[in-house]
Amino acid sequence: MTQQPSGHPEHPAPRETVALTDLPVLRVAVLGAGTVGTEVLRLLSHQGDDLAHRIGGRLEVVGVSVRDLDRDRGEHVPAGLLTEDAHALVRDVDLVVEVMGGIEPARSLLLEAMANGASVVTANKALLAQDGATLYEAADAHGVDLHFEAAVAGAIPLVRPVRESLAGDRIQRVMGIVNGTTNFILDAMTRTGADFDDALATAQELGYAEADPTADIEGHDAAAKASILASLAFHSRVRLADVHCEGITSVTAQDIAAAARMGRTIKLLSIVERIEEENGERISARVYPALIPDSHPLASVSEAYNAVFIEAEAAGSLMFYGQGAGGAPTASAVLGDLVSAARARVHGGVGPRESRYAELESIPLEELRSAFYVSLTVQDRPGVLAEVAGTLSGYGISISPSTRSCCRRTARAGSRPAPTSASARIALWSPR
Ligand SMILES: NC(=O)c1ccc[n+]([C@@H]2O[C@H](COP(=O)([O-])OP(=O)(O)OC[C@H]3O[C@@H](n4cnc5c(N)ncnc54)[C@H](OP(=O)(O)O)[C@@H]3O)[C@@H](O)[C@H]2O)c1
Repeated sequence: MTQQPSGHPEHPAPRETVALTDLPVLRVAVLGAGTVGTEVLRLLSHQGDDLAHRIGGRLEVVGVSVRDLDRDRGEHVPAGLLTEDAHALVRDVDLVVEVMGGIEPARSLLLEAMANGASVVTANKALLAQDGATLYEAADAHGVDLHFEAAVAGAIPLVRPVRESLAGDRIQRVMGIVNGTTNFILDAMTRTGADFDDALATAQELGYAEADPTADIEGHDAAAKASILASLAFHSRVRLADVHCEGITSVTAQDIAAAARMGRTIKLLSIVERIEEENGERISARVYPALIPDSHPLASVSEAYNAVFIEAEAAGSLMFYGQGAGGAPTASAVLGDLVSAARARVHGGVGPRESRYAELESIPLEELRSAFYVSLTVQDRPGVLAEVAGTLSGYGISISPSTRSCCRRTARAGSRPAPTSASARIALWSPR
């Protein structure tokens, strides 16, 4: 122990530096040693001493659960810690880090861990979006903490700002790019003129898209994050089923070119907002490709980066930007949570609980008014555009002059007029 000089009573001496060996030990179980888990273990081994000082306690990884015990996982995942018996592992620890993904067995393991008194840190957006309520209730019932910063936009601090830093404010809207794979694809299409399939193939070659990219390109991943953000921002339970979800598979190179002619860029946006109505408020949560003005900061978010805007009544507009995925960036968010949960263990106190007192309902997309870019394939004959405009005006829909020129025409000389068909319908987003 280092002896510090004693100070004047009004200026107390700095706290004594405690030797690491005198600090209490916290037993940690890590569930999963894949992309994120391996980086969590690497950072824990590199920064163990620093983390111990920051926490006031030493983190000791007592086991790492995986499916395949024989796979070589490198120097930071000691073979002696690997186990296939995750249930036994979570029964006798202080903290559990869940980076295995999927719904089961992750859910049962986290519930078992909490029932046995462990606080948990998870990066599992799919589980939180599908059944966050059960996890919150278990954390409450057993007096333990549930942290999930890494579940939304990887390294970017979003969960903590929304549920803690802005707890004294009133959030109006959270909007952003929260899926790196789709941003990479749309950015490649914008920069090179490539069509969707080619851009997806490039993303897969470079490791930005998985072999099965469905969850990303169909918008499911972004929708899970939108449901988590909406629940936190509006103090209500917003289920995955409440989020309107459209992916980017129908966005074509022609749509991107037409957007460019209008001074706009197509991005997959997750938007959650408070809608004020005559009889109160509801929540809109939606994910879809949207045209945003080139001048907007989100338009220049390139490659696989994420960026999120938060608009709050008192704070105004805040922007968060960074790496939304990847082993090390995601592990950074996991470790931040682990330090918080560990500090609470050592020094007492509880982390943030679920806040759903507002119980706002969700509003279906059909009830929202918005501008849309509609791409039509029509026959090249006189009067066809007037016909389209007439049909739309029959439904009370007007066409913006700047978009009218973007209708594609197909020439079919001599054929009878065929019904026009809409090949794309993309939301036009403009700032309030
Ligand atoms: N990757 C990212 O950039 C990122 C970003 C943000 C959030 N996340 C979230 O972090 C979590 C982990 O993602 P990841 O990319 O690290 O996944 P991953 O590379 O597929 O790794 C998953 C790990 O969990 C283990 N595992 C899976 N199912 C298991 C089971 N039933 N029993 C025991 N072990 C099991 C796997 O074991 P084996 O190695 O033996 O197969 C593997 O070690 C997911 O919830 C994901 O959504 C990931």
